[in-house]
Amino acid sequence: MKHRSLRRAMITGGSSGIGLAAASLLAEQGCSLVLAGRSQERLEEASRKLVELYGPSTDITVLSVDVSSREQVDRVLGSEAQRQNIDLLVCSAGMVIPASFENSTHKDFTRTMEVNLYGTWNVLKAVMPFVREGGAVVLVSSLAGLIGTYGYSAYGTSKSALVGLGEVLRNEFSLKNIHVSVLCPPDTDTPQLQEEQKQRPEITKALSGNARVLAPEQVADAMLRGIRRRQFIIIPGLQGPLLFLLKRLVPSLVYRIMDRTAAGMIKKERKIV
Ligand SMILES: NC(=O)c1ccc[n+]([C@@H]2O[C@H](COP(=O)([O-])OP(=O)(O)OC[C@H]3O[C@@H](n4cnc5c(N)ncnc54)[C@H](OP(=O)(O)O)[C@@H]3O)[C@@H](O)[C@H]2O)c1
Repeated sequence: MKHRSLRRAMITGGSSGIGLAAASLLAEQGCSLVLAGRSQERLEEASRKLVELYGPSTDITVLSVDVSSREQVDRVLGSEAQRQNIDLLVCSAGMVIPASFENSTHKDFTRTMEVNLYGTWNVLKAVMPFVREGGAVVLVSSLAGLIGTYGYSAYGTSKSALVGLGEVLRNEFSLKNIHVSVLCPPDTDTPQLQEEQKQRPEITKALSGNARVLAPEQVADAMLRGIRRRQFIIIPGLQGPLLFLLKRLVPSLVYRIMDRTAAGMIKKERKIV
C-alpha cells in the first residue's frame, strides 16, 4: 500500500503549538491547508504568519469551530472536507487541566473528555469519509496517554482513550488504504504547556523532572516522518520512546521509580512546611 503525496491537509488546533508547526512544515512543502480552532483571530494570525513565510500563493483556509460541538464540526469541517477531499487529517485540538484526582472536579473531567476524546471523535466522524484513499490521519495523544502519571486522571484518561480509538481505526481503515497514526509527544514548548506549568502539581513537576522539553517543530517533523514510515505510535524525541519501551518490558520498575519520586516529593514538601 502506498501513500499519496500530501496535497491538502486539515489540522484542528492548527492555529497554535504542535498543529501550527505541522501546518508550517506542510506549507513549506506546498501543501494546501485547512486550519481549525475556536478563535478566528488566532487562526488569521497563524495564516498571516504562514503567508509571510512561504509567500502569497500559500493556500490556507481558516475555519472557526469548537471541536466539542458535533453540530459545528459536521457543519463546518464536514462540509469543507466534502467540498474538497483531503490527504491528511491531524486532530491536534486539545486541552489539559492538571490536578490530583482528589483535587479534580467532575466539571473539568467532563470538559477534558468533551474536547480531547469526543472532540476528536466528532472530527473523525465528520471528515474521515472525505479522506482520500492513500491518505493519512493522526490522532494527537500524549506520552501521558501511554504512561499513567500523577495529576492526569482527566487528561491521561482522554489521551489513552485516543490510543485505543486509534488502534481500532488503524485496523478498520487499512481496508481503505488510509493510514492511522497516534502521536504521543512528551512535554513540548507551546502555549498549552506554558499555561499548564502554572497549575501543575509539584509531584507532576517532579515526575517530568529533567526530561527534555521538545520544540513544536521537532514534534511536527517526527510526526511527518512517522506518517511516511507508516508508524502507528509516533513518540518524538529520544527519552519518550525509551521510557515507553521500559514500561512495556519491566512495568514494575517504572512504577517503582514513579512511586518513589512521588513519595520523595511529599517528604520534601512536609519538611518545607
Ligand atoms: N504541549 C505539550 O507539552 C503536549 C504534550 C503532549 C500532547 N500535547 C497535545 O498536543 C495537542 C496540541 O497542543 P499544543 O501544546 O500545541 O497546544 P496549544 O499551543 O495550546 O494549541 C492548542 C490548539 O487547539 C485549539 N483548541 C483548543 N481547544 C479547542 C476546541 N475546543 N475546539 C477547537 N480547537 C481547540 C487551540 O485554538 P483555540 O484556543 O483558538 O480553540 C489551538 O489551536 C493537544 O491535543 C495536546 O494535548 C501537547
